[in-house]
Amino acid sequence: MATLLKIDSSPMGEHSISRKLTTHFAASWRKAHPGGAVVSRDLTTTNLPVVNGFWVGAAYTPEDARGLEQRETLAVSDALIAELKLADEYVFGVPMHNFSIPSTLKLWIDQVARAGKTFSFGADGPKGLLTGKKATLLVASGGVYEHGSAMASLNFVTPYLRAVFGFLGVTDVTIIAAEGTAQLMSGQVDPQSFLAPSLEKVQSHASL
Ligand SMILES: Cc1cc2nc3c(=O)[nH]c(=O)nc-3n(C[C@H](O)[C@H](O)[C@H](O)COP(=O)(O)O)c2cc1C
Repeated sequence: MATLLKIDSSPMGEHSISRKLTTHFAASWRKAHPGGAVVSRDLTTTNLPVVNGFWVGAAYTPEDARGLEQRETLAVSDALIAELKLADEYVFGVPMHNFSIPSTLKLWIDQVARAGKTFSFGADGPKGLLTGKKATLLVASGGVYEHGSAMASLNFVTPYLRAVFGFLGVTDVTIIAAEGTAQLMSGQVDPQSFLAPSLEKVQSHASL
């Protein structure tokens, strides 16, 4: 049975564009994968501790030598990594915040990037361990950062996420961007017509 892991990080609830896109992705994916399971993870309601020295010490202590407090400290990380390993496919809703990703998504990355679990170091350097997975990133931004535009160099969302996922072994990454959402705030643009092209792209990609 195929499993899709849907991860949202927008704090904007029902007003969120990226959440509209991930919801549409999951609905389209379900139709294309009868019997498949969708696991939802909302990073705005997940306890995501900041990585500190104790966490790092625990992560680099061999598993069978960890004490109770070390095991408890790594419990969130273990659970989030288990979700990643279980799923065949991932869809992320990513709002651009200050030219980068939301802080909750960064906290999540810090919890799941773990030596020996999601990457390893060998003679040939680092090796991602999340192989055979497919990720779709649905990115919403107030401004427009398309390739070749004046703003393109300020987009730290997609290059960063491609680098992180590549490091973890996820190389099949598709990005669908809904750019210029600030126009919706001004009320000059009809929300349905604005979203229609992104929803269409999301639907056809989720149905593959
Ligand atoms: C805290 C915060 C920071 C933002 N920073 C940027 C930014 O740097 N560049 C940009 O184009 N839009 C920025 N925006 C606008 C969001 O990218 C835009 O509202 C987008 O639709 C967010 O996705 P969402 O609707 O799923 O929350 C910011 C919004 C918030 C709330």
